[in-house]
Amino acid sequence: MQTVHKAAQLPAPREGVRRAVVMTMGALHEGHLTLVRHARTLADEVLVTVFVNPLQFNDPADLERYPRTLEADAALLEAEGVDLLYAPAVEDVYPGGTPLVTVNAGPINTHFEGAFRPGHFDGVLTVVLKLMHLTRPDVALFGQKDAQQVIAVRTMCRDLNVPVEVVAVPTVRDADGLALSSRNVFLSAAQRQDALALSRALGTADAVARTGTATVAQVLAAGRAVLDAASGVGTEYFGALDPRSAAPVPEDYRGEVVVAVAATVGNTRLIDNVVTEVGGPA
Ligand code: PAJ
Repeated sequence: MQTVHKAAQLPAPREGVRRAVVMTMGALHEGHLTLVRHARTLADEVLVTVFVNPLQFNDPADLERYPRTLEADAALLEAEGVDLLYAPAVEDVYPGGTPLVTVNAGPINTHFEGAFRPGHFDGVLTVVLKLMHLTRPDVALFGQKDAQQVIAVRTMCRDLNVPVEVVAVPTVRDADGLALSSRNVFLSAAQRQDALALSRALGTADAVARTGTATVAQVLAAGRAVLDAASGVGTEYFGALDPRSAAPVPEDYRGEVVVAVAATVGNTRLIDNVVTEVGGPA
């Protein structure tokens, strides 16, 4: 595996060699590695970026304590047969300091994550677009774990004519159901138990939705009851998103929805979601 720290060292794509990129903020776990393995099935060449993007952190304390484990990350990627790792410093990605021109994520900024994390999706899309320009992939893979992020990236590529195929990969979970996240390292053993309420609530919502007879409101009420009964969990939102726009779905909605949750457990903010179907196919 070749590791480069400077954009100028990134090799140009070669004719006839299909290139995939997996963008990450490091502190790699099986979720990231699943994206990398899937990338290998879609392309001849796999690039991974590791960059903790200051622009997408709305909370300076979160940026400060975000885990940084580049050496271990590089070893994991090497073992996966990754071709190239791009691990830049902040100055390499933002040589002029905070960029003056950024991507505006549009209405997604007002829905769920967007509403709770002002500026987050603008920061994500700005760095994703920059990393796409720098790495010039044919295909980029993103985790369904960050459901709104995938929708935002797809929308950007469509609306701004970015010639990159966007592929979503299902959420990877621990055996107990907890969605893998770089932030899980902050949870104590007790908090980790409390955090299981998120996947439990989503599982309940999914089961109720799949009866085919429940409304959106009933699906959400069933999941919300699980969260309300849980200890140590501060729910920020528990909602049903349209999988195309990330907008909240109307009361009478039928069809595929993403039921999404954000909650804090101690000082750690966690998100998770499940893709399900309400009222049978629309
Ligand atoms: P990060 O949180 O490091 O995640 C990198 C990629 O891994 C994202 O596409 C994310 O959805 C995916 N991922 C994380 N946990 C996962 C899990 N449990 N199962 C499946 N996929 C998972 O998301 C970001 O970084 C940043 O916003 C980034 C896109 C790199 C832009 O800075």
